[in-house]
Amino acid sequence: MKRIVVLGSTGSIGRQTLDIVRAFQDEFEVVGLAAGNNIELLKEQVKEFSPKHVCCINPPAKAFSGMEFTSMEDMVCLEDVDQVMVALMGSVGLVPTLNALKAGKSVALSNKEPIVMAGGLIKEYESRYGGEVLPVDSEPSAIWQCLRGEDNEILRLLITASGGPFRNTPLEEMEGVTPERALQHPTWKMGRKITIDSATLMNKAFEVIETHWLFNVPWERIEVVVHPQSTIHSMVEFGDGSVKAQMGPPDMRLPIQYALFYPKRLPNTMIPRLDTSISQTLTFDPMEPGRFPCFELAVSAGKQGGTYPAALSASDEVAVQAFLDSKIGFTDIPKVIDRVLTEHDSQPGDKVEDFLEADRWATVRAIELTNS
Ligand SMILES: NC(=O)c1ccc[n+]([C@@H]2O[C@H](COP(=O)([O-])OP(=O)(O)OC[C@H]3O[C@@H](n4cnc5c(N)ncnc54)[C@H](OP(=O)(O)O)[C@@H]3O)[C@@H](O)[C@H]2O)c1
Repeated sequence: MKRIVVLGSTGSIGRQTLDIVRAFQDEFEVVGLAAGNNIELLKEQVKEFSPKHVCCINPPAKAFSGMEFTSMEDMVCLEDVDQVMVALMGSVGLVPTLNALKAGKSVALSNKEPIVMAGGLIKEYESRYGGEVLPVDSEPSAIWQCLRGEDNEILRLLITASGGPFRNTPLEEMEGVTPERALQHPTWKMGRKITIDSATLMNKAFEVIETHWLFNVPWERIEVVVHPQSTIHSMVEFGDGSVKAQMGPPDMRLPIQYALFYPKRLPNTMIPRLDTSISQTLTFDPMEPGRFPCFELAVSAGKQGGTYPAALSASDEVAVQAFLDSKIGFTDIPKVIDRVLTEHDSQPGDKVEDFLEADRWATVRAIELTNS
């Protein structure tokens, strides 16, 4: 039986992780659950899964009587934990991820911001302390699956992108995009922040950075291809020109389950199957240059390294929230991020404090910019 902790249990990935646990009740013991502010749902989850440890931002006096209230940073290190699912949103996942690796745990990492911020440090902790990072995000998971059993030269990692809701929108309409419109993702149902990141294609740049660190592949060998059907989740081209693709319905429970049971693939009737009884066309297009300024800004910050990616991630988090709160427009998101990155005094980023300080500074600066 695998003993797990789920950080971010009330979110989109956290709830789908618990769907898998529910489907394989004999395989898991839930040792701890951590959430933010959704106390009602956390209470329901606690009742159903009876974890020993619980955590949330502002614990109400009575909700969890008789339970141990344990910080996320400590929960991931508990001796009776085998695997940690990090399904938090934003930079808050960095320290728990590092702590889990330091304690030698297996970390199923959905939360992409920590690896964007500090990918080098996460990989260093993984090799130094013996923990492991398993990708959950569907594109890195697809690459991981394609690389399984391969010890061959990689020519290219091809990350697929749906292109989001504004792939074909006339550029002059982008300024007037509302949060409601940007929240309509054509193929995936996700949390609000990642849905906006998908509309700006920031999310795709995050995946490029994530992939670079997870698989130690040079930047110039990572490409993005627009594939609106979201059926192929990514591809790997090997030295002989052969291309392997991982396909499946756009359902996050598939890569979640793969990370939880790796290396096994267990049948799960809850996950829909690829429908080959209907005629379908799969298409590939190059990304249109200039359409998605967030993508270009972010990949450039990733390549510059140091603490630029931490400043990028923090300023994006603030700018996206400001857009959702209707404080700034859709096309202001890259402007805020660009300004923060231009002003950022990047540090080498060899210790966690450098990344946390860059995150703090960029958050404050982006808040100033979005309030002005
Ligand atoms: N959703 C997807 O399909 C998908 C796909 C690939 C990758 N990802 C990545 O996975 C991560 C999670 O995405 P999501 O869509 O599941 O996000 P989400 O629905 O917004 O859920 C975020 C979770 O984190 C919790 N949380 C936020 N701030 C917290 C804090 N300060 N302390 C403790 N808990 C906190 C939230 O708690 P409350 O709700 O209780 O406040 C919630 O449980 C993101 O990094 C995203 O990029 C998501």
